[in-house]
Amino acid sequence: MRRIGILTSGGDCQALNAAMRGVVKSMATSGEQMEVFGFLNGYRGLIYGDYRMLDGNDFSGILTRGGTILGSSRTPFKTIREPDENGLDKVEAMKHNYYKLNLDCLVILGGNGTHKTANLLREEGLNIVTLPKTIDNDLWGTDMTFGFQSAVDIATNVIDSIHTTADSHGRVFIIEIMGHKVGFLTLNAGMASGADIILIPEIPYDIDKVVEAINKRKERGSKFTIIAVAEGAISKKDAKLSKKEYKKKLENLVHPSVSYEVAADIQKKTGQEVRVTVPGHMQRGGSPCAYDRVFASRLGAEAGKLILKGEYGFMVGYKDREIVKVPLQDVAGKLKRLDPDAAIIKEAKMLGISFGD
Ligand code: F6P
Repeated sequence: MRRIGILTSGGDCQALNAAMRGVVKSMATSGEQMEVFGFLNGYRGLIYGDYRMLDGNDFSGILTRGGTILGSSRTPFKTIREPDENGLDKVEAMKHNYYKLNLDCLVILGGNGTHKTANLLREEGLNIVTLPKTIDNDLWGTDMTFGFQSAVDIATNVIDSIHTTADSHGRVFIIEIMGHKVGFLTLNAGMASGADIILIPEIPYDIDKVVEAINKRKERGSKFTIIAVAEGAISKKDAKLSKKEYKKKLENLVHPSVSYEVAADIQKKTGQEVRVTVPGHMQRGGSPCAYDRVFASRLGAEAGKLILKGEYGFMVGYKDREIVKVPLQDVAGKLKRLDPDAAIIKEAKMLGISFGD
């Protein structure tokens, strides 16, 4: 009999349920007897001993369901060592609950922040296996995270819809895409929907180059321009600021986000009407796409295999088309970013897409 704890932490995404189902179903199929403790709302459930027992019925019919049956929350790593408002030591509390329930291991589904805490728990002696989730695809050690492809599909559909109205009105349209500090989502959705200009954090933009690209389109007779802007996009000027100076600028932003700043600059420089669309959390919502259902199920099944073998301290990731196990200490604290010299960027440029550089 194995006693397994499971939790989903950080911003949610599609296919979290599919991944958990993969872990439990694969282990059950192998004939393993187990008790599954589902901690509610991320690390909070583990800290405060808030869990419910899960059985086969809980994992039935959830392959296609978005969100997470366990709920999620953000428990920032930078304050994990600080006591809570009642003086509780959060790390000690997590260890206490793990040992009190006599768990064999903890399966943790999460992104960057989640992995830092997962690695800390590993260092503290707990048996941990993790799975890589996030629409941002910014997790080090895996070429792909689940949730990403579903979000690409949603963002692509948004830009597709904007295309027709942009055409009717001859406007410049900016669509702000999530992705935190990286541009994977914006690049892929932008390319999939035929965006004319793509601005991503990894390639700081020059607003005059953006305007140049818009004007070139006008000269060629195109009435409208579609610009996919990553929420973390940054101008060349701002990229020269120190981290502290840039943080201060963001705190005192005149505009709600970088897209509105780009829009105001374009309007001023071209006189063209500019509109901004922010699909926001829609990109994390709804049912996982087919790719993510398969991908998350595969990762879940491989995580189940690791647990059966008693191999702990790993994230189950995907490298060079193979499912791999990556030591947690290698994953924690590192950000995966797009390489500005990557082939896909060169190919996008060959297609005439401007990155404003
Ligand atoms: O990490 C996923 C993500 O959706 C990012 O793309 C975005 O910057 C952030 O989470 C939004 O966080 P929240 O849901 O806390 O507003």
